[in-house]
Amino acid sequence: METISVSELARKMNLKASELIGKLMGMGMMVTMNQSIDADTATILASEYDCTVHIVSLYDETVIESESDGSVELLHRPPVVTIMGHVDHGKTKTLDAIRSANVAAGEFGGITQHIGAYTVETGKGKVTFLDTPGHEAFTMMRARGAEITDIVVLVVAADDGVMPQTIEAINHAKDAKVPIIVAVNKIDKPEANPDKVMTQLSERGLIPEAWGGDTIFVPISALQKVGLDTLLDAILLQAEVLELTANYECRAEGKVIESRIDHGRGIVATIIVERGTLRTGDSYVAGVFSGRVRAIFNDRGEKLEEATPSMPVEILGLEGMPNAGDPFQVTETERIARQISSKRQELKRFENSRNIKKVTLDNLYDTI
Ligand code: GTP
Ligand code: MG
Repeated sequence: METISVSELARKMNLKASELIGKLMGMGMMVTMNQSIDADTATILASEYDCTVHIVSLYDETVIESESDGSVELLHRPPVVTIMGHVDHGKTKTLDAIRSANVAAGEFGGITQHIGAYTVETGKGKVTFLDTPGHEAFTMMRARGAEITDIVVLVVAADDGVMPQTIEAINHAKDAKVPIIVAVNKIDKPEANPDKVMTQLSERGLIPEAWGGDTIFVPISALQKVGLDTLLDAILLQAEVLELTANYECRAEGKVIESRIDHGRGIVATIIVERGTLRTGDSYVAGVFSGRVRAIFNDRGEKLEEATPSMPVEILGLEGMPNAGDPFQVTETERIARQISSKRQELKRFENSRNIKKVTLDNLYDTI
């Protein structure tokens, strides 16, 4: 689903965000400038100002041909699980408890700033977890999270119940057609009311198995480490049903989760491999940039020679910072990577320089 933030749309239309917010209010929508609206709303809104919305994808015109599966035997791959939910409902704490490492304590102010990605060895197989922030400014990140995921774990605090970002997370998961497992968290709190959460979510179409529906609800306390094994079992069970497989032999393809500048190491990108095997020395295109994989690290910072499907890894050797959600693809030769990258950069420059009155949603990923 294409979306654009109100501020970005206003910028492209050469208007003040407050103007659009006022207009949207007149249409019965209460939004802030950092919130996103969908393409249909943007189209209606733009037409009020005689502007047209074009939804274009930069990558449509510069397709890198994927290697076909051919006669390759597809092998099992670990599920990619995204943790979503309202701010402060305990997503990071849950993930932290599951991997028994101390991520939450290191987070400034306790708010997750970046999407985090970790693989956990469960004894019954690996599971890759992606953390997402619940803050309302991060809609886009949750939308992207839902796109690269096999299963969404929706964390709902039992003392707080269903909140706006809970609903938004459900919508993202539904849009991406991803099954949802509900983790009813903070059951240790005296004011916890798991039944209320079940009722509220039933009203949104997530009916607990216990009530004859098909959604798994697991009561947990991330703080007291209660119910986490049951949650993992539910995830593994759901993953089994999905029969997740991938080609491990082809050139690697995946998605960028985030990129950042690391002092001493240069540009570092976290990517998740979706198919194929990524190796040190591979030439690739990530978003509009090309490069050669100089080094691969796993989520514990250990150096690897290669990465296989569903693995989140950090790579070094980038010539620019790709955006979260950008496609990542290994190319046959370095020359192809460079050619595609320069073509994409040219297209992007062209899009950026287009008449400002002509509204485009192409640079969606730049909006936050
Ligand atoms: P954002 O990333 O900001 O959206 O928040 P989050 O969902 O990741 O929440 P986080 O894990 O940072 O937890 C928020 C607060 O709730 C912290 O103070 C946690 O210690 C507390 N918390 C999380 N899980 C539990 C729980 O099971 N019980 C209790 N009592 N507190 C919890
Ligand atoms: Mg968090």
